[in-house]
Amino acid sequence: MSARAHALRASGKSVGFVPTMGCLHEGHLSLARMARAENDIVALSIFVNPAQFGPDEDLDRYPRDMEGDLDKCRFAGVDIVFAPPASEMYQEGHCTFVDVGRVKAGLCGGSRPGHFRGVATVVGKLFNIVRPVRSYFGQKDFQQTVVIKRMARDLNFETEIIVGETVREPDGLAMSSRNRYLKPDERKAAAAIYRALMAAKALRDAGERDPARIVKKAGEVLSAEPMLEVEYIEAVDAVTLDKPEIINDNSVLAIAASVGGTRLIDNIFL
Ligand code: PAJ
Repeated sequence: MSARAHALRASGKSVGFVPTMGCLHEGHLSLARMARAENDIVALSIFVNPAQFGPDEDLDRYPRDMEGDLDKCRFAGVDIVFAPPASEMYQEGHCTFVDVGRVKAGLCGGSRPGHFRGVATVVGKLFNIVRPVRSYFGQKDFQQTVVIKRMARDLNFETEIIVGETVREPDGLAMSSRNRYLKPDERKAAAAIYRALMAAKALRDAGERDPARIVKKAGEVLSAEPMLEVEYIEAVDAVTLDKPEIINDNSVLAIAASVGGTRLIDNIFL
């Protein structure tokens, strides 16, 4: 991959890069199509990154489907699939990590210590191997986009970070590889997360600017669904992740909730 990336750079070809953990769905593929439209070559990585999973998380049962993924990649016009083994990404004695400051705290960083350190480390390594001109990330993992943008700026990675919209199921549930863990009744309950975001957004559109009232509104919708266990509902600034005094166009409402042990996240620009 590294040799190929060097050759592509030398020949003046632009590489658009979509990092993933595989088990591809429309959310991933929408990023691949954006990359297809804007670059000469599209590279997509499939790597279930052990460094971003906590000890009690789902690393061992994280869904994998390499054959299906390769078919989807062919169909979406992906030129290169980079799927390294973990032993090659983290060679024996690996002990260097990227630790993005402030913006990894709060939201998902609060309940998943070490998660964003693992994400930033692997994405930094992938940027160095793939050498993309543009890199594509989904708004669904909002805090991840903030962490990656900050890392790219602070460490002078020469790749433009492009964020694609969240792709949803017909009932609004954000697509996620983890949705396949949901049993039918859990799957139904999960749609309340999007309803809560929409109710909050409607309140904002009607003129509400108080973060506490907007959060409360989303909380009411979520609490009507007893199967959902709310982890956080927070309005934050899209760049700093600080809590705004009043809601503005740069405010994001982010939710994490679990249903039947499956942790789900979603967010919306207010
Ligand atoms: P993964 O969860 O596989 O997601 C890969 C990319 O697809 C991420 O940028 C994610 O935000 C995006 N994505 C996932 N669901 C989406 C949806 N419904 N709509 C739009 N985009 C969506 O995120 C990771 O992997 C990893 O943390 C990774 C960045 C690859 C580092 O290991």
